[in-house]
Amino acid sequence: MDRIIVKGGVPLEGKVRISGSKNSALPILAATLLAEGTSRIENLPFLKDTKTILKILNSLGAKIKLNKNSVEINTDTVKNFTAPYDLVCLMRGSICLLGPLLTRFKKAVVSLPGGCVIGPRPIDLHLKGLRDLGAEIKIKKGYIEAKTKKLKGRRIFLGGAFGSSVLATANVMMAATLAEGETLIEFAACEPEIVDLANFLNKMGAKIEGTGSHLLRIKGVRRLRGKNYKIISDRIEAGTYLVAGLITKGEISIENINPSHLEAVIDKAEESGAEINLKKRSLQVKNSNGLRAVNLVTFPYPGFPTDMQAQFMALLCLAQGTSVITERIFPKRFMHIGELNRMGADITIEGDSAILKGDRTFVGTKVMASDLRASAALVLAALAARGETEISRVYHLDRGYERLVEKLTELGADIKRIN
Ligand code: EPZ
Repeated sequence: MDRIIVKGGVPLEGKVRISGSKNSALPILAATLLAEGTSRIENLPFLKDTKTILKILNSLGAKIKLNKNSVEINTDTVKNFTAPYDLVCLMRGSICLLGPLLTRFKKAVVSLPGGCVIGPRPIDLHLKGLRDLGAEIKIKKGYIEAKTKKLKGRRIFLGGAFGSSVLATANVMMAATLAEGETLIEFAACEPEIVDLANFLNKMGAKIEGTGSHLLRIKGVRRLRGKNYKIISDRIEAGTYLVAGLITKGEISIENINPSHLEAVIDKAEESGAEINLKKRSLQVKNSNGLRAVNLVTFPYPGFPTDMQAQFMALLCLAQGTSVITERIFPKRFMHIGELNRMGADITIEGDSAILKGDRTFVGTKVMASDLRASAALVLAALAARGETEISRVYHLDRGYERLVEKLTELGADIKRIN
């Protein structure tokens, strides 16, 4: 299995160009199932997860032409409606195939996504929303079996114990585009990726209003037509490089982004002492005087994103003072703490909070990646560590970071990948 070797202590400098958003790409690729004719998706990140969902679409019968960062998809030839376990278990995001398959082809069989290291991944809100639209849904032998004659729009409350759900909102919104009548989704997710998906759906002929708010209004239409669409940039990749610039006490420019998607992360970084200069499509970040401890709580958008929690934890281990990080979205999302402590951090867990003593020094050693963002946190700690760090199971990183080693090398990092 591949490993990444990092010799830490090099302040990163220069420019890094951010790729398309993984968490936009997955539901947008699934949404091509809704349309007649061909769609062409641009600014597609070349990742393990996007390749997995394209493999599933291909197994359903879709015609796919993939170039490096764009893909043409025609789903008129889809004749199989089962998303198989061996592919779905590779990526939880596959659950967002359920809504489009059901509403266009009137049936869908999707494997239950199973859990993952960041904690249980329930799908009760997905099933509630689709049942509210009139779907008959059974769970049999680890598969979700859904069917309908015609989905009918209605008012749906989609809030759960942890607030809004990104992919449940995506699933129900997609299903409602071809349902009869009007659907109101209350407590919908406001993430930029949901806005991106709705923009693509509206370009294909859907009638969705209220995107970016907690109340979505969808008027069902008879058909959608494939269109060309460019995906937004990946705000979590951008936040990860923002931390890379800070944790190495460097000065980097993060390009091809929408800074307004990173408000909460920028706010926390500035509170901690980072110098950040915003431009229309980029930001410059610098850490010349070291950082101070801050407390943060993860929250649905526009709050501090849970997908940036592990990366910021690595950064705050080096800040002056004690920080408290509270994880409100996935309370078990602390897999990275054990490995960070092995590198010299001093983090303890109290319920859904992590208490970090600051002023630490990371020392390179052998560590193992676990989930996508925990792995990113280990790379960040390694970039700042004294000596050499060897990270194994780096396939986790391939799921969400395009050309990570190349991009960090271009910023001056001493990093290489060996198999
Ligand atoms: C999306 O996952 C993202 N994945 C996750 O990013 C991200 O962490 C998460 O949203 C939160 O922002 C993709 O977009 C592919 P949720 P999703 O439903 O939609 C609970 C990454 O690293 N919940 O918004 O699956 C759930 O347990 C990944 O890129 C229910 O209770 O997350 C969690 O506590 C990791 N019932 C909370 O809601 C449900 O039916 C938010 O989860 C669904 C979710």
